[in-house]
Amino acid sequence: MISVNDVHKSYTAGKETIKGVSFCVNNGTIFGLLGPNGAGKTTLMQMISTLLSPSEGSITIDGLSAKDNLLEIHRRIGYLTTEVRLDPMSTPDKLWDFFAELYDIPKEQSLQRKEELFGKLGIMPFKNKRISELSTGMKQKASIAISLIHNPPVIIFDEPTNGLDILTSKQVTDYLLELKKEGHSIILSTHIFQVAESLCDEIAILVDGKIAAQGTVEELTELANASNFEEAFFKIYVENHVEE
Ligand SMILES: Nc1ncnc2c1ncn2[C@@H]1O[C@H](COP(=O)(O)OP(=O)(O)O)[C@@H](O)[C@H]1O
Ligand SMILES: [Mg+2]
Repeated sequence: MISVNDVHKSYTAGKETIKGVSFCVNNGTIFGLLGPNGAGKTTLMQMISTLLSPSEGSITIDGLSAKDNLLEIHRRIGYLTTEVRLDPMSTPDKLWDFFAELYDIPKEQSLQRKEELFGKLGIMPFKNKRISELSTGMKQKASIAISLIHNPPVIIFDEPTNGLDILTSKQVTDYLLELKKEGHSIILSTHIFQVAESLCDEIAILVDGKIAAQGTVEELTELANASNFEEAFFKIYVENHVEE
C-alpha cells in the first residue's frame, strides 16, 4: 500500500509546485493522477519513488518511509520514468541481463522472467536489436519490462502510454490490468482522460499542484454534474485552475 500524507514540494523558495497532496493506494488497485502538463504529476511520482524528497509531509510504502529503509523500498517499487533514455547501442536482452545482475536476481529466475515479460509485451522478436533501431513503442515496452524485472508489489508508471500507437497502448494497459489482478498497487500518471477512464479504480485530478477532485469515473462525473468523464475533467479543471 502507498500512503501520501500532506506532501508539499518547492523547487525554489516561496513557490510551491505541490501544495499539500494526500491519498492512499490499496493493493490490487490502480490509482490515476490525471492532469495537464505542468500540474506536478512527475514531481509527485519522483517523490513517491524516493528520487526527490518532499519539502513537507510524508510518504510510506507498505508502512516504510525512505528514512527507515531505502533499500527495502527500492526492492518494493518498479518505477517507469518519462526521462530515462536506454543506451542506444545496447539491446533489450543485454539491458535485461545488466539489470538482473544489478538486482541480484538468480540466473535461472531471470531467464524465466525475461521469457515471460518479453513474451507478454511482444519484445521477443526484437530482443537482440539495437535500442537505436527500435520504434518508440518497442523502446517503451522494453523500459516497462525492465522496470518490472524484480516483480515489485508497487508500480509507479509516469505516462506509460505517452506517444504509443493504439495497439501498443492497449498491450500496455491490458498488462497493467493483469498486474492489478495479481494484487499489485499501481499509480499511473496521464494527461489522457481515456487512459484514466479505462484503467483506474480511482482518479485524482491534479490542477496546479493540488488535487482538485478525487473519486471513481462515475463519482467525478456526478460531482461535476457532467454527462461524461471528458466533460467532468474539463469542468473540474476550469473551476480550479488559477492563471498566475
Ligand atoms: N527540477 C525542477 N526545478 C524547478 N522546477 C521544476 C523542476 N521540475 C519540474 N519543475 C516545475 O514544476 C512544475 C510541475 O512539473 P512536473 O512535475 O513535471 O509536471 P507534470 O509531470 O504534471 O507535467 C512545472 O511548472 C515545472 O516547470
Ligand atoms: Mg510529467
